Amino acid sequence: MSVNKLEELRERKEKIQAGGGEKRIAGQHEKGKLTARERINLLFDEGSFVELDAFVKHRCVNFGMDKVESPGEGVVTGYGQVDGRLVYAYAQDFTVVGGSLGEMHAKKICKVQDMALKMGAPIVGLNDSGGARIQEGVDALSGYGHIFYRNTISSGVIPQITAIMGPCAGGAVYSPALTDFVFMVDKTSQMFITGPQVIKTVTGEEVSAEALGGAMTHNRISGVAHFMAANDEACLMEIRRLIGFLPSNNQENAPVYETANDINRIIPELDEIVPENPNKPYDMKNIITAIADDADFLEVQPYYAPNMITGFIRINGQSVGVIANQPKVLAGCLDINASDKAGRFIRTCDCFNIPVLNLVDVPGFLPGTSQEYGGIIRHGAKMLYAYSEATVPKITLIIRKAYGGAYIGMCNKELGADIVLAWPSAEIAVMGPEGAANIIFRKEISDSDNPQETRVELIDNYKREFATPYKAAERGFVDDVIEPSATRPRLVDALNMLASKRETRPPKKHGNLPV
Ligand code: HXC
Repeated sequence: MSVNKLEELRERKEKIQAGGGEKRIAGQHEKGKLTARERINLLFDEGSFVELDAFVKHRCVNFGMDKVESPGEGVVTGYGQVDGRLVYAYAQDFTVVGGSLGEMHAKKICKVQDMALKMGAPIVGLNDSGGARIQEGVDALSGYGHIFYRNTISSGVIPQITAIMGPCAGGAVYSPALTDFVFMVDKTSQMFITGPQVIKTVTGEEVSAEALGGAMTHNRISGVAHFMAANDEACLMEIRRLIGFLPSNNQENAPVYETANDINRIIPELDEIVPENPNKPYDMKNIITAIADDADFLEVQPYYAPNMITGFIRINGQSVGVIANQPKVLAGCLDINASDKAGRFIRTCDCFNIPVLNLVDVPGFLPGTSQEYGGIIRHGAKMLYAYSEATVPKITLIIRKAYGGAYIGMCNKELGADIVLAWPSAEIAVMGPEGAANIIFRKEISDSDNPQETRVELIDNYKREFATPYKAAERGFVDDVIEPSATRPRLVDALNMLASKRETRPPKKHGNLPV
């Protein structure tokens, strides 16, 4: 090989590596953002990233684009390892034509999407882009269409994770929305269909880009995002952590991590955690971290619908998806957002072979016209659908309240829970004692000489008779009533027993999930 040819190769590669040049890179850093290549290096195990298609160029000649060089075509693509496992990625390079997406930029992304699907490996998209490359017109739109199609075809086959690390506007938001998990970086990322200018023109409403589509907006209000990170580095570390809880594809199980945490660990504080007064709240997260290996809990959507908790823990090294009511917020009621959040998470666990653990303390559905008009019926139906459809091991632990439709909605025996356990504090009934006594003993109370005293007495009777786990256990709806302190060994045992679970469903094209 002549020295010249090697030099040419090195020069070409150096130029591509330099992206949009020093000035634009400095601009990126000034905004508190890393470059595409810096992000890729942090995401993957050191030195493991292999770049593809670095030489790809655009072929647009409109509006002077024939004179515009775009090193790497504004996106770095390739594969590498995360904790030793194969992962594909693309990172849009804002320093090159604003990371805008044209025909060839899209082709690079589609290539790694296709490879990730074929090889059965997760794909991570790092988005930082001005959107469709305006000069490329319909070619750019076509590029997005190809990406959306691949996002959908890969859904439920390989984990797809997106991080928004800069602007993400217009239809560009739909690739992230089609993936399994969306991360956003605080203060430096925004997602919206129509930006503040358009909104002002059309509706007269004035809103800042941050308030409209910043990280907190999508984490707390819209539920579009699942995670929020303080900066780029924290975001990439959290993506690595999430990948550790997921299998590489739908035909594998999540990796099992060695743990020194005793599987037979007795947790005495759980015997005391539920207050005597059934109306007193407590923090469900304390129960989750107590039973998890090494208290490690990766909460998914912590800011959205906090009356419902979703996230990953490991038990005996194995990934488990937790769906839990939070008595500290709205008494743990189910509402529209909580149902959407749980329904989606249950389906995520099911498609990736992650057993689900349901921790129940639910007084019912949130009453009100806003809930009824908003369609709590169809939203709540998503949870019933998702639990019934799921074939992964399903374990339900009833901690305290399990009333009415919400008892079923949190996965009782009939929706296919393989094991239902209850603590002695469990109250499983059609409704709470006060409401029930007011209805069924209405006549006795009104006819009594001392209605107040009679009411209290009848409520007490009802509580003793029905607000316990034992009626349900007598019918076999609850498999066992356990001591709270022994919860962890019982869960380890249940997960081991269910490891060989096989359940099939009648063949169909796909179900018709209420949306
Ligand atoms: C071509 C673009 C571009 C785009 C940015 N650039 N967006 N080039 N097409 N969509 C270029 C700029 O011209 C500039 O080039 C460089 O990228 C950096 O952009 P700046 O504006 O200097 O950066 P900043 O001030 O940080 O502003 C970022 C921005 C702004 C807010 C994203 O660039 C912007 O508003 N861009 C347009 C956004 C947009 O409307 N996109 C279309 C959305 S609709 P130079 O050479 O000066 O460095 C869409 C439809 C998708 O995407 C449909 C899918 C179905």
